[in-house]
Amino acid sequence: MTIAAPPGVFDVLPDASPENWRSSYLWIYVETIARQLATLFGYQEIRTPMFERQELFQRGVGDNTDIVSKEMYTFIDRGNRAMALRPEGTASVIRAYIEHRLDQQPSQQKLFYIAPMFRYERSQSGRYRQHHQFGVEVFGARSPAQDAEVIDLLHSFYKGVGLKNIEFYLNTLGAVESRTAFRSALVQYLEKFSNALSEDSQRRLTTNPLRILDSKEAKDQEILAEAPSLYDFLTADEKIYFESVCQLLEAIGISYKVNPKLVRGLDYYNGVVFEATSDALGAQNSIGGGGRYDGLVKLLGGPDVPSCGFGAGLERVIQTLLAQQGTTTAPPCPDIYLVPLGDEARSYCFKLLHRIRQKNILAQMDLAGRKIGKAMQHANTLKAKYSVVIGDNELGKAFLSIKDMATGTTEDVALDNLEEYLKSSSKIP
Ligand code: HAM
Repeated sequence: MTIAAPPGVFDVLPDASPENWRSSYLWIYVETIARQLATLFGYQEIRTPMFERQELFQRGVGDNTDIVSKEMYTFIDRGNRAMALRPEGTASVIRAYIEHRLDQQPSQQKLFYIAPMFRYERSQSGRYRQHHQFGVEVFGARSPAQDAEVIDLLHSFYKGVGLKNIEFYLNTLGAVESRTAFRSALVQYLEKFSNALSEDSQRRLTTNPLRILDSKEAKDQEILAEAPSLYDFLTADEKIYFESVCQLLEAIGISYKVNPKLVRGLDYYNGVVFEATSDALGAQNSIGGGGRYDGLVKLLGGPDVPSCGFGAGLERVIQTLLAQQGTTTAPPCPDIYLVPLGDEARSYCFKLLHRIRQKNILAQMDLAGRKIGKAMQHANTLKAKYSVVIGDNELGKAFLSIKDMATGTTEDVALDNLEEYLKSSSKIP
């Protein structure tokens, strides 16, 4: 009996077919751009474990969020500790930030990661039980320019990958005081309609009322049309901060829409929040989001440092790329393929293979002991540019007979000039 992968997860394969978003070539392409841009913006990579103590996410992300209450992969380890597979990156990065006293390291305040996250969600197109995020977290700066820089990096990432028609939505949740006052007013208003709200929203009325704002249910939206607006509860300073972020984005040509109903699904946000959506995806169209979470580091036992960040879902980024332009990457092909005939030739070729690779030339050789016909077929399957057959006769010679796989013509090349020949050939850049 064969064993299949669990539902909601997938394998990334070296498959270059144009429709396959699980092609490792696309993943490498997207991850390389993320790394290059993060570095360009002055962010350094952090890697945290895939599992943490469960309590970290309960306190960090919030007990009442769907992510923690319904979707977390939890387990008791052999030491009887309650653990959880990381559902998101922010809480883990903060845990590491506090544990390693990174607040004392002025050069390590802007961090990025590319990492898998685990959420037991109903699996559907664009929603997986293991997904991957390119994320950043910045500590120590509370200024509109810092929020704008984070949004600029996310925007540059989508652009760098080649995505089009990405919409950015912005909102501000204000500080705890403003949000608490708004929350009471909202609950007071919604309680009048509690029986008419969707089942989910009725539940959220007591657990997480702000989340009702981004309900997709028509009946909820109808009721919300007359609900109090968060904006009316913000202080003058909070409004100025938000407007400054908006102005900075305009100054660098990033378009966005203000969406007063954008609250995000995690409890830790305050101040400016944002989300990006793709028009190439179905219902699960959010390809990234983030915001400010001042106070969270302190809540988790660290210093009182302001902080903000984002997480972008790489599956959805790659799916958008494919939907909009088809694959742009192809697997690398060998520059030369060596076919040894006989044992002596095999060990000679192996040394030659090593020598060619040291010159940074992509070389492969038949390692499976194929007969000459099958070996040439293999060279064709790999799309090798040149091949060379080496038998006992060729061993003592100073020349190799190199075959151009596209034209079928052969040319004698001095062994000493082989690498030069391959490099200077028009086919190899
Ligand atoms: P999030 O909005 O929960 O934020 O996730 C960020 C992105 O991850 C989403 O916009 C989406 O693209 C992708 N994503 C989330 N869940 C799934 C899933 N089940 N399948 C596929 N893709 C998914 C966070 O996680 C925050 N930690 C972001 C952040 C960092 N905020 C501040 N710093």
